[in-house]
Amino acid sequence: STFSGLVIAVDGTSGSGKSSTSRGVADRLGLRYLDTGAMYRAMTWWMLAHAVDVHDASAVAARVGEPVIVSGTDPLAPSIMLDGDDVSEEIRSDVVNAHVSPVATVPAVRARLIALQRAVIEDALDGAGIVVEGRDIGTAVWPDADLKLYVTADPAARAARRALEEGGTDADAVRASLETRDHIDSTRGGLAVPDGAVHVDTTPYSLDEVIDQIVALAERVSERA
Ligand code: DC
Repeated sequence: STFSGLVIAVDGTSGSGKSSTSRGVADRLGLRYLDTGAMYRAMTWWMLAHAVDVHDASAVAARVGEPVIVSGTDPLAPSIMLDGDDVSEEIRSDVVNAHVSPVATVPAVRARLIALQRAVIEDALDGAGIVVEGRDIGTAVWPDADLKLYVTADPAARAARRALEEGGTDADAVRASLETRDHIDSTRGGLAVPDGAVHVDTTPYSLDEVIDQIVALAERVSERA
């Protein structure tokens, strides 16, 4: 690979095409990939499985150190292990979609997961680098990222995309659930536009076109370095 220790921070709303884009960019550039949303989802699944009231922030905070969360970083086969089990499917369930926002707003949850995320990024600095996807990567997790992207799409395009990802569920219901999550994420969660971020609106582009644009940006920043 032509890259060395490159960090690309990809923030933005759910259903913006951020995940497919991030994986595609990592694959094209030979970088690792980290889906931080999957870590918040795994934490939520663990709390639900252990009968913790996810609306009680101090109850959540009291147990935050217990789950063992290990993220795979292969962009072609993302995986997430929770206490030794692969929970890649469980974390995409409706019950997790409905409860992840309150869990993600608990400061102790954010502090623990950000520490885990930084350790994964530090490991990747010895190799070509990593694409890290989430809500607060360019602002809180890794403000020194070489390239920061803020990815959005118009709400109807996002709902249609997420409904497809979730297996043909009703796009209107998906849109309502996305809007609720966005509202919580942007008021109490970590979503913010990082300083120096390039805004990518994916609405008019195909996935391959968006990946091409970002690959070109990454090549430019690494030439500068
Ligand atoms: O991207 P996603 O839909 O898998 O994210 C799931 C939830 O986790 C969403 O409510 C936002 C939250 N999240 C966060 O607060 N910070 C991140 N870095 C990533 C996700």
